[in-house]
Amino acid sequence: MKDKPVRLEENYELIINGYSHQGEGIGRVNNFTVFVPGAILGERVRAKISEVKKNFARGELKEVILSSPNRTMPLCSVYHLCGGCHLQHIAYEKQLEMKKGIVENALDRIGNQNIKALPTIGMKDPWRYRNKGYFQVNQEKGRVRLGFYKTGSYDFVPASGCVLFSLQINRLVRYLEDQLSLQKVNDCNSKTGGGNLRNVLIRESRSTGEIMIVFFTKKNNLGFDQNVLNDLVRTFPQVVSVYQNINRSPKAVLLGKDFRLLKGKPDLEDAIGPFKFKISPQSFFQVNIAQAKILNEKILEYANLSGEETVIDSYCGTAAISIYVAKQAEKVYGIEVEKSAVRDAKINCELNSISNLKLFTGKAEEWLNKWRRSCEGVHLIIVDPPRRGCSSKVLKGVIKIKPKKIIYISCNPATLARDLKYLTKDDDYKLKKVLPIDMFPQTSHIECIVSLER
Ligand SMILES: C[S@@+](CC[C@H](N)C(=O)[O-])C[C@H]1O[C@@H](n2cnc3c(N)ncnc32)[C@H](O)[C@@H]1O
Repeated sequence: MKDKPVRLEENYELIINGYSHQGEGIGRVNNFTVFVPGAILGERVRAKISEVKKNFARGELKEVILSSPNRTMPLCSVYHLCGGCHLQHIAYEKQLEMKKGIVENALDRIGNQNIKALPTIGMKDPWRYRNKGYFQVNQEKGRVRLGFYKTGSYDFVPASGCVLFSLQINRLVRYLEDQLSLQKVNDCNSKTGGGNLRNVLIRESRSTGEIMIVFFTKKNNLGFDQNVLNDLVRTFPQVVSVYQNINRSPKAVLLGKDFRLLKGKPDLEDAIGPFKFKISPQSFFQVNIAQAKILNEKILEYANLSGEETVIDSYCGTAAISIYVAKQAEKVYGIEVEKSAVRDAKINCELNSISNLKLFTGKAEEWLNKWRRSCEGVHLIIVDPPRRGCSSKVLKGVIKIKPKKIIYISCNPATLARDLKYLTKDDDYKLKKVLPIDMFPQTSHIECIVSLER
């Protein structure tokens, strides 16, 4: 590392003149890029170099020498320890501008798309929006705690005061910590994978206030008795569904296949706009319902349907988007790989009196390529893949079907940009609109709708 203009552990003064895709401030020492988490555009800061790589370094913010007027006091008391939020120190309006820049930058740099995004649609109240928390379980001085690991480490941060969750979820987290501590549930630790109780998932319906809890364990036994569950639902009548998920693997991977309903009903009911949705524990559902409503309305606006079209929704989940679209199209084909989500989607069609949505269980890769010879006259294909984006097989299938329009919904600008490069490479499709929607305020994550036309 001799030839680098920065050295590990040494302090440098930097002027911040940009942001990385994770919202870190970017400064330069002799033209060498230094990322400084917590630093804001326009600030002069002192940073201590913590990592040096071939083309960049990372520095720890030690002092803000000249502060930005857009610097705000983080609401959360563990903001600097946790790492779950990245942007609480920046005024919300500026977070929205930054996210527009992150999207444009990725589209340009990775996707070769020289296009301006529309202004990011933000929230009036950008706090307490998350309807789902996946907590690590740990013990501190004999007390059971629910929390998170600091990004990239096993440093545990308690979460009972998290400002992204409702006050109800926070109360429930504290209650569970008290009860599990009282019960002396000692065999809990997600860190090593050695403990029995590893994680707790809490899902909250924003329309009814009802709650679902899943305890993730390694063994069959929960480690506490039925009375704890009886007391739980007596104290929190909003808890309408309690599951146990058993994963015997020593590695604490997210989900085992074995879900057992311990108490109450199998699913949670929520609503997006006028539509109701039942969701079972392993199905995907947007974490920010207020913004999901705006997302779905914008999809409809960009789809501009007359009622005579055929639409394919190729990563349809519990049919949150398909049901919106089905009200305005002649027919919709929904594809989803997760069986439980397809089950939920079928129930959701009944709940919302939808009869023109046909669901296909399996991979978008398989169905789209199966249909590509027989699927003429498809007006619109919607893709809403997970963070990894679409595989080239999916994109190939989409292009072969030749829909008039494509609407791509993404939660990862980098994979979005990669896939747009593919979709536009032969000039078959042109980018029409790029709209960032802030589904995840206070974090550097951003949702985006992109419309393309043939
Ligand atoms: C980001 S979610 C979107 C769900 C839905 N559009 C919504 O708004 O609720 C992505 C969904 O794609 C599903 N999925 C992941 N890979 C898939 C694949 N190869 N083919 C079909 N579905 C897939 C996941 O199970 C998940 O439900």
